[in-house]
Amino acid sequence: MFVEQITLPLADDLHVHLRQDHLMQTVVPLIDKGGAGRVLVMPNLKPHIKTTKQALNYQQALKALNPRVEYLMTLYLNPELTIEEIQKAATAKIIGIKSYPRGVTTNSEDGIENYEIYYALFAEMEKLGLILNLHGEVPSNAEKNICILNAEENFLQHLEKIHKNFPKLKIVLEHITTKAAVEKVEELGLTVSATITPHHLDLTVDDWAGQNHNYCKPVAKYPSDRAALRAVIKSGNPKFFLGSDSAPHLRSAKENSCACAGIFTTPLLLPYLADTFEKLNCLNKLKDFCCTFGREFYGLSALEQTITLKKISQKIPAEYNHIVPYRAEDELQWRIID
Ligand code: NCD
Ligand code: ZN
Repeated sequence: MFVEQITLPLADDLHVHLRQDHLMQTVVPLIDKGGAGRVLVMPNLKPHIKTTKQALNYQQALKALNPRVEYLMTLYLNPELTIEEIQKAATAKIIGIKSYPRGVTTNSEDGIENYEIYYALFAEMEKLGLILNLHGEVPSNAEKNICILNAEENFLQHLEKIHKNFPKLKIVLEHITTKAAVEKVEELGLTVSATITPHHLDLTVDDWAGQNHNYCKPVAKYPSDRAALRAVIKSGNPKFFLGSDSAPHLRSAKENSCACAGIFTTPLLLPYLADTFEKLNCLNKLKDFCCTFGREFYGLSALEQTITLKKISQKIPAEYNHIVPYRAEDELQWRIID
C-alpha cells in the first residue's frame, strides 16, 4: 500500500547529546522540529554531570532554551557516585545512570573498566527503579585483539553478568551496532532492552572509513550486522527502540585529521527515520519504534501532541550554525508538516 502521510505522537528520543554553551543553543531549539517531544539527555559534558544538582541545573538551562520538550536526565557513572546521591537522584526524578567505558568515546577519559566496583550502586538503582544506560564497548586492547570492530561484541559478557546479578535492574544497551548485540538482547530477560540509531540502520564500515561525517561510536559494522538491526526493527520486537545518539560537533572538529566521533540527526530525526523505514518496507513499524516501545520500557506516559509526516521531498541543509547534519545536502523523501 502506498502511504503518503503519517500522523504519530511526538517521538521519545531516548539517547541524545545536547551539549552546552554555543552548541546547546543551536541544537536544543531544533529538537521538536525534528519530531521529538521527550529526550533522554546524556551526561558527558565538560565537566561530566555527576550530581543531581548539576543535572537539575542543566535541565533548567535546557528548558529555558526550549520549553516545548521534556528532558529526562542522567548522571555519569563514576567512582565518586554514592548510594546517597543515587537516592537523591531518584527523588529528583533523574531517570538513569550512564556508564561509559574508559576512553572509548567523546569525554570518556575517566570512564569505567571494572563493573563490579559498582555493584552496591546497581543494587540501589535496582531497588529505586533507576535505569542503567550502558555504552556497550570495551576499550581497545592489542594483546586481547580488541579494536573498534569487535569492542561491542566483547562487551556483551559484561551486560550478561550485570543482568544475571541484578535481574530486576532495567538496563538499556545503547546504540547497538551488531548482530551479536541484537541476539544477546533478545536472549536476556525483559529488563534488558536496546536503543538503535537512525544512522546505524543505514551505514556500514565502508560509509565511515575516510568519511568523517559518518564516523561515530560505536562505529557502524558489517552489512550482516546492519541486516540484523533492520530485521529486528521489522520484527517489531518491543525491546528495541529509538535512541538517536545525535552527537553534534562543530564542522572544524569533524573535518580534522583526528575527527570527533558523533553524527548529528536531531533537526530531521523523524524524516530520516521515515525515509529509512520506507526503504525497508516497514513504515507501519515507525510509530511503535519511536513512540511506544521506549516509553513503555521506561514507564513513561504517552505524549499527547502529534506530528504529521508527509511524502514531500526536502534537501538536508549543508549545516546548522557550523554543525554539519547527517547526510548533509542529500535529498530526503519525507518532511514534517505543520
Ligand atoms: C558521542 C559524543 O560525541 O558525545 N559520540 C558518538 O560518536 N556517539 C558519545 C557517545 O555516545 O559515544
Ligand atoms: Zn551517545
